[in-house]
Amino acid sequence: MDTNKKKINRKISVAPMMDCTDRHDRYFLRLISKNVMLYSEMVATKSAIHGDRKRILGFREEEKPVALQVGGSDKNELAEVAKLAEQFGYDEININLGCPSKKVQKNSFGACLMKEPDLVAECISNMVNSCKIPVTAKTRIGVDEIEDFEYLNSFVNKIKQSGCKTIILHARKALLKGLTPKQNLNIPKLNYEMVYEIKKANPDLEIIINGGISQTEQIKKHLEHCDGVMIGRAIYQNPYFLTDIEKEILNTNEVPSREQIAKQIISYLEEEVKLGTKVNHIMRHTVGLYHGQPGSKDWKRYLSDNMMARDSDFQKAKHIMTIVQNNEKANQLNS
Ligand SMILES: Cc1cc2nc3c(=O)[nH]c(=O)nc-3n(C[C@H](O)[C@H](O)[C@H](O)COP(=O)(O)O)c2cc1C
Repeated sequence: MDTNKKKINRKISVAPMMDCTDRHDRYFLRLISKNVMLYSEMVATKSAIHGDRKRILGFREEEKPVALQVGGSDKNELAEVAKLAEQFGYDEININLGCPSKKVQKNSFGACLMKEPDLVAECISNMVNSCKIPVTAKTRIGVDEIEDFEYLNSFVNKIKQSGCKTIILHARKALLKGLTPKQNLNIPKLNYEMVYEIKKANPDLEIIINGGISQTEQIKKHLEHCDGVMIGRAIYQNPYFLTDIEKEILNTNEVPSREQIAKQIISYLEEEVKLGTKVNHIMRHTVGLYHGQPGSKDWKRYLSDNMMARDSDFQKAKHIMTIVQNNEKANQLNS
């Protein structure tokens, strides 16, 4: 099948997040939502090319549609990874042009590439020419002293001319010095208007807005101006929020209960443990399943007492359904 012809629905996507959106997390999120687009954590070109490819790039068919996010600034390496992404079955390859971390800066990729539009254009064009899957970019609205519509618009146009039709804009500029990566996700202030203006000036581009979005009402408002909304932390902390998104934004009639999700993740855990995966590598992503619910404390305590150690035993997982059933009862009484 020519994957290029398959239209990817990016109305709602879950943001790429290091140490969070690995293949186990994506499998878990996919149990909750069938219609959102998922992104991998950022993978550096050198790891993808020289590392244990099956471990770094492998994923299950059930996670699809899924994009591989890559970090790099060497056009040949980026082209090679784009090809690998296609071979591994990813639906999209996304280049990270927004990460401000020290490590990423040291390797000259991520947000510092916003200062090198010609290099970015060359990299993207090489990626586009080396694979048939869509090449997309995720960037910020500015970097350091630059937070200016004209600069961003010209950067976006360079990206567009090199063959990329979808751009994810994190509506906050990146500061390369003086802030920790965490502060760079909260400081300075978000500027959604700038993203709306970019969409207005480039109606032919698919513009996805990102940053600080945590409610369906906010999503609806952004969708009046942009083509899609990408959400990170709000979903990682409260993954069941995806069911509100499915119902209210994507018009899905039936969504799974937390009990159904828990049962399915335990089956997955059983299969994966047999293949050598550690219990905590999967279950750590499920901590927020009961976020805001009466049973949240019990769920978290059970996980932390039984399933978060490096040598946690799968046999303990079987008892987790008792917690799930108690939580269901508590919720029924509550409603
Ligand atoms: C723990 C964590 C890891 C992140 N890792 C990446 C990453 O690998 N690649 C990337 O482009 N952005 C990364 N980000 C940024 C997110 O993709 C997103 O742009 C940011 O969190 C803003 O969206 P939010 O307010 O909905 O969380 C990360 C954010 C967090 C919180």
